Amino acid sequence: MTKVVTIANQKGGVGKTTTVTNLAHALALMGKEVLVIDLDPQGQVATFLGMEQSAGAFYLLSTCIDPGANPLMILRQQMRFSGRDRLYVIPGNPLTNMAQTMLNASNAPVAVLRRVLSPLLNNGKPDYILLDTAPSVGGVQERAVWASDLLIVPTLPDSSSLEGVQYMAGMVAELKEKGWQGELLGILPTHYEERTRESRSSMEDLRRVFQGLVLSPISDRTVLRDARSRGQTIFEYEPESQSAQEYRELAEQVRKAR
Ligand SMILES: Nc1ncnc2c1ncn2[C@@H]1O[C@H](COP(=O)(O)OP(=O)(O)OP(=O)(O)O)[C@@H](O)[C@H]1O
Ligand SMILES: [Mg+2]
Repeated sequence: MTKVVTIANQKGGVGKTTTVTNLAHALALMGKEVLVIDLDPQGQVATFLGMEQSAGAFYLLSTCIDPGANPLMILRQQMRFSGRDRLYVIPGNPLTNMAQTMLNASNAPVAVLRRVLSPLLNNGKPDYILLDTAPSVGGVQERAVWASDLLIVPTLPDSSSLEGVQYMAGMVAELKEKGWQGELLGILPTHYEERTRESRSSMEDLRRVFQGLVLSPISDRTVLRDARSRGQTIFEYEPESQSAQEYRELAEQVRKAR
C-alpha cells in the first residue's frame, strides 16, 4: 500500500522542505518509489532538487474542486522525473496560491485531497507520496494532513516554537475526532545544536510534553544549506556526513511505521 507522508508546521523556516527532499531521496535510495508533491506556492521543492518549478500543484489542487476532473490523468501528466532513480516530483509555483484560494472558497471537504490521490494509493505505486506544505494554517494544510498516513512536524528547538507544535498537535486531535485514520509519526527537532543550552532545554520541554513522539533531532549543519544551494540532496553533496546519516535514520523510522 502506498503511504502518504505529510510534513507540516505553520511556522516558516523550520526545515520542512529540507526534510521532504532529503527524506524522499533517502527512501528512494532504499529502493522505494517516491513521489513528492509541493503544495507550497514558494515552489521550493523543485529548487532544492535542482529542477524547474511548474504549475503541477495548481492543476492537481484544481481537480479537488472540479467534479468532472480525472485526477489520475492529471497526476501522471504533472509528474516530473527528478533525475534520481525512483524519485518523482509534482512541482509547485506561485499559481498554487490561486488554487488554494479557490479551494478555500469552495468549502471542499477536508478529505478532498486524499480522494484526489486515491487512484495512486490503490495502485500501490509509488511506495510513498510526500507532501510539502506552506507555512500557513487551515485550508490546504489541513487537507494535506488529512490525506496523510503519517505526519511529521519539524520544529526549531527553541523556546518560541513549542506553541507552533502545540497548535499542530491540536489539529491532529481535532482531525482524529473527525475520523482521520493517519497518525503523528513525530515531532522532528531541526537546526539542533547540541552545544547550546537552548537546544538542549527545548528538547527536554518537547519530550516532557510529547514524550515518545519526539524523533531524533536533525543537527544544524551548513552542509544542508550548501547542498540546497546547489540543488542537491545531502546524499549527493555529502553522503558520508552526519546530516546524511540523520536523514537516513528518519527514513528508517518512516519505513518501520505501521
Ligand atoms: N538542519 C539544518 N541545518 C542547517 N540549515 C538548515 C537545516 N535545515 C534547513 N536548513 C536551512 O534553513 C533554511 C530553511 O529551511 P527550509 O526551507 O527547509 O524550511 P521550511 O520550513 O521549508 O521553510 P518555509 O516555511 O519557508 O517553507 C534553508 O536555507 C535550509 O537550507
Ligand atoms: Mg518550505
